[in-house]
Amino acid sequence: MNNIQILKSDLNSGIKIYNTLESSIAILKLNNKYFAFEDICTHDGEPISNGKIFDSCIECPRHQAKFNLETGEALCMPATENIKIFKIIEKENIIEIILEEE
Ligand code: FES
Repeated sequence: MNNIQILKSDLNSGIKIYNTLESSIAILKLNNKYFAFEDICTHDGEPISNGKIFDSCIECPRHQAKFNLETGEALCMPATENIKIFKIIEKENIIEIILEEE
């Protein structure tokens, strides 16, 4: 699978969703930092990218499980499994999301 490259300027207007054959990846800029995570709640498979975002966390809109966007950690019930976080490499005017580590 190839990595994803996205212009930093494309993230100024909010969260972007990038669909691969395997999954849906949400990419966003928050307090001048970039985050990329699999857009699937580990509780019951709901997309979480339209949830509330605060303090580097996102809250699933369905049952309000919270996840840390830096680590993917599930912070409260009903989720008990972490979400997948993707490594990001920042370049001059783009970011690269690493889909697979070699
Ligand atoms: S589907 Fe996300 S908390 Fe239930």
